[in-house]
Amino acid sequence: MAVDSQALENTAAGRASAVLTAHGNLSFVLQNHVTFITGAGAGIGEAAARFFASQGARVALLDRDAAGVEKNAAIIAESGGEALALTGDMRDRASLAKAVDAAIARFGRIDSLINNAGIYPRKPFLEITEEEWDTMQDINLKGVYRMTQLVVPHMIAQGGGKVINISSVTFFVAPPLLSHYVASKGGVIGLSRVLAKELGPQNVLVNCITPGAIQTESEKHFVTKEQEQEFLANQSVKRRLQPLDIARVCAFLAGPWSDGMTGQTLNVDAGWALY
Ligand SMILES: NC(=O)c1ccc[n+]([C@@H]2O[C@H](COP(=O)([O-])OP(=O)(O)OC[C@H]3O[C@@H](n4cnc5c(N)ncnc54)[C@H](O)[C@@H]3O)[C@@H](O)[C@H]2O)c1
Repeated sequence: MAVDSQALENTAAGRASAVLTAHGNLSFVLQNHVTFITGAGAGIGEAAARFFASQGARVALLDRDAAGVEKNAAIIAESGGEALALTGDMRDRASLAKAVDAAIARFGRIDSLINNAGIYPRKPFLEITEEEWDTMQDINLKGVYRMTQLVVPHMIAQGGGKVINISSVTFFVAPPLLSHYVASKGGVIGLSRVLAKELGPQNVLVNCITPGAIQTESEKHFVTKEQEQEFLANQSVKRRLQPLDIARVCAFLAGPWSDGMTGQTLNVDAGWALY
């Protein structure tokens, strides 16, 4: 069955940025590409899973939220795509190893890994407990270490692959109340740069994306109308960025268009932090 790419792209995100979505598909360059996406139960990970499937990719979706990945895998399957829902926690290596094994058993390979799962609670630096600090690093930074270590051997064995790490523009703009978060996301950029050098000879390319303020469901829980206006004031492009905006750049980094680049950090923030 042909993949219904419009149905897969037609998330709230896709509708909101309709002016940029009227492009049709990208000639299915990602046909049969296998991607493994963490945090695919919601937000950016969900949009990436649906967008990759809309371009013909086979998708392994991992999240600690089993209902979220099952729902998203079902949407992809209903639209004619191929998806595998996997439950795992970025803090639990055994659960991730089991998920990677299941993805390899199902698809035989992993062409790209999108390390996207993450948390972003806000708190004044002086009030952050050791436990809160450690939880942040364990999920956002050590989770990337765990997943990458589990997936890259498969990439090397198959001749290469792409690792796409989701960091954050906050690394550049350093907003208050996110010290533990920005420390973790800076770590992700540093890790990506070293891995680019270390794994390049084996044809494993590692790049980062630093999203700006993306309008996800989770964001609604803590972003006020006033803060939304602040985001728009900071951006040079005056629309709220959607998860699909990040999903598309993930596709660029996963596909052949970016074969000549590694160790780079792409800022997708509607012109907020220019560097
Ligand atoms: N939304 C933004 O504005 C924004 C901006 C910059 C960077 N980011 C980064 O993008 C990524 C995705 O953000 P989002 O806004 O889509 O978030 P989200 O909360 O909408 O989705 C994150 C997903 O990750 C999952 N997750 C969280 N902890 C996990 C764990 N320990 N194990 C497995 N799964 C886990 C959640 O269940 C959820 O489904 C995060 O790394 C975030 O830091 C987001």
